[in-house]
Amino acid sequence: MTAQEVAVLDYGSQYSQLIVRRVRELGFVSHLYPPAELPNLQNPGAIILSGGPRSTSEKDAPDVDYDKLMSFGVPVLGVCYGMQLLNIKHGGTVKPGVTREYGPAKLVVTDHADLFNGISHESQVWMSHSDTCANLASTTQVIATNEDAVPVALKWSDRCWGIQFHPEVTHSHEGTAILRNFLTRSGANLAKFDIQAFKSQMIERIKAEVGSREVICGVSGGVDSTVLAVLLAKAGVKVRCIFIDTGLMRLNEGVEVKELFEEVGVPIEQIDASETFLGALKGVTDPEQKRRIIGTLFVEEFWKVADNVELLAQGTLYPDVIESATSGSIASKIKTHHNRVDRIMELKEQGKVLEPLAELFKDEVRDLGASLGIPHRALWRHPFPGPGLAVRIPGEITPERVLTTQQADAIFIAELRRSGWYEQTWQAYAALLPVKTVGVKGDERSYEQAISLRAVISEDAMTADWVELPYGVLRNASNKILNSVKGVNRVLYDISTKPPASIEWE
Ligand code: XMP
Repeated sequence: MTAQEVAVLDYGSQYSQLIVRRVRELGFVSHLYPPAELPNLQNPGAIILSGGPRSTSEKDAPDVDYDKLMSFGVPVLGVCYGMQLLNIKHGGTVKPGVTREYGPAKLVVTDHADLFNGISHESQVWMSHSDTCANLASTTQVIATNEDAVPVALKWSDRCWGIQFHPEVTHSHEGTAILRNFLTRSGANLAKFDIQAFKSQMIERIKAEVGSREVICGVSGGVDSTVLAVLLAKAGVKVRCIFIDTGLMRLNEGVEVKELFEEVGVPIEQIDASETFLGALKGVTDPEQKRRIIGTLFVEEFWKVADNVELLAQGTLYPDVIESATSGSIASKIKTHHNRVDRIMELKEQGKVLEPLAELFKDEVRDLGASLGIPHRALWRHPFPGPGLAVRIPGEITPERVLTTQQADAIFIAELRRSGWYEQTWQAYAALLPVKTVGVKGDERSYEQAISLRAVISEDAMTADWVELPYGVLRNASNKILNSVKGVNRVLYDISTKPPASIEWE
């Protein structure tokens, strides 16, 4: 029998995607589906029912077609809400909770067979629920409890389990091992995820979808658009790659992007729109107005080139697709991604949008990029905001201020690379503060600008912590900036967490 995928049914938990991600990290093919898609699953080798925000006792609470679920004859795991649904289907009940249990809890394993094979007798897990399983059927086996002896893991049959905690989050210390046990000790026949095979399939799919049409693709030098452009080129389709230089990029960015694309053998068209952008920003100090101007101009400049586009390629990733999903998903709409704005949705309806990376997570895009021969350095670049340095120069943007910021930033980034800290930080940059302070230069009193350095670690940019860089690294960066960047007499290091601060200054 051919090997099959792990289907994750999404009951709306904020962690549903993370289950897919963990399964793929364990090396298996996995996708997320709305529960209503259950009857249409083509080839599940195992099925996981995710957690969710609802209570099974609520009217219209999402359900599962149990007969259909069991008809696949494959191993099933219910997580939190998924577990409660399965308990009801197996003759038990669910007791509504008064308070929500949220946070770390102790898992006490009472049966080390299958799911908990090799798992510590006691370990920390992450709970997020208010209801609990009750009135268990006589055939239901309790395989773990919490420290108060309340059942938190159940086994209903040799191929059906439920767990009350989230194995997919890192706060569940042995969560990944528990998922691995489910996938490897349950008798599931699963396909291994293989990036080389996946790449070949993607290239074939792109060829078929594009045909003889011309594809247009915006590139920025960032990971996603670079991988996308190279993938399209490797597929041999007709592609135009457009790089718009807003004049708000990092120092020498235009040249570096050009060199990168030359290195990977993909021609790009560079459009220097810096005068347009800097001209439009003259005298503007309001952060929101700055953003609006940049966003609008960017779209205008791009559509000037992309007018009459036959096919627009976007480097949309899996999390963007899921986050923007509305139909069929129980999760509330979190945000509209910029790849899902109206103009793009119109093109999408006309079948003019190509999103080949939409099945992938960031780390998988990097793997794919490496297998396409894209240099490591390009695949591990820090993220850079769309409005560029505009959000790092509070107040008015002038060409001089942009240059000062670029020079300080280049020095800081070079020092992070030299010291080995670049890849240990998630994002780092220099910002130019809208103040002048007193200093001394030679025998003269100076009245010059201040640079603030920021380096953070983060998983998803929603929260961030500042990095405890060694004093030597900060000292080198500060000395070089003070000695070589004209008009700067003070360097600060930003020690603000997000929240309450954001990563950028504006
Ligand atoms: P904040 O400043 O909101 O930034 O903590 C979180 C992450 O998002 C990036 N960022 C942006 N990216 N357009 C973008 O494409 C934007 O307008 C924008 N604002 C912030 C920021 O660099 C960080 O990685």
